[in-house]
Amino acid sequence: MIFSDDDDAPLALDLAPDWTARFGPLAGRLELEIGCGHGGFALAFARAHADRALVAIEQRRAFARDVAAKAERRGHGNLVVIQGDGRILAPRLFRAGSLAAIHVHFPDPWWKRRHGRRRLVDDRMSSLLLGLLAPGGLLDFRTDVERYAREAVVRLEAAGFANECGPGAFAERPPDELPSTREKRYLETGQPVWRLRLRRPA
Ligand SMILES: C[S@@+](CC[C@H](N)C(=O)[O-])C[C@H]1O[C@@H](n2cnc3c(N)ncnc32)[C@H](O)[C@@H]1O
Repeated sequence: MIFSDDDDAPLALDLAPDWTARFGPLAGRLELEIGCGHGGFALAFARAHADRALVAIEQRRAFARDVAAKAERRGHGNLVVIQGDGRILAPRLFRAGSLAAIHVHFPDPWWKRRHGRRRLVDDRMSSLLLGLLAPGGLLDFRTDVERYAREAVVRLEAAGFANECGPGAFAERPPDELPSTREKRYLETGQPVWRLRLRRPA
């Protein structure tokens, strides 16, 4: 696991890391998860996709440490966990156009006006995420908050994402989708989840 120095001033990198040195040929299929929480998705991804590499960024130190320890115990060499703020770290860790997919699952909604700047999917992040994806790359966004979902789809499409399901539309759950920790609960209770599957146009 890689720690940032502290939560407010994470890693100041001049150059994106050499992911090929870390992952070898798997770096050709590099994916990012922002806000991995307890790691349900990241750990399942690492087990299910030995032919791909995932970098998971998590702001909360205890969560990041726990997911990294599990990845190490389970021998998942294709998963790196980084503690810090994904909004600051993502553009420093990856070159433009280098990611095959970005996963954002159940981001905190931050409804209060004074917390608005903490929200993950704002206009700046929408453009940033688009720019980090390779042409044809996937943004896999899931939330249990309908209002967040509806605002996000408008914002992300305005930034230039193409919606696989048609403008403004939400996706059905793909049969092979790996659930995040929170989503596992919702699959049991039947609580609705709004899913976006958006692509950087080729
Ligand atoms: C509601 S939880 C969802 C966790 C997980 N994705 C899931 O679905 O189970 C949101 C997570 O995102 C993390 N988070 C919030 N803002 C973040 C940011 N800017 N960068 C990295 N992680 C962030 C929180 O610490 C928390 O673990």
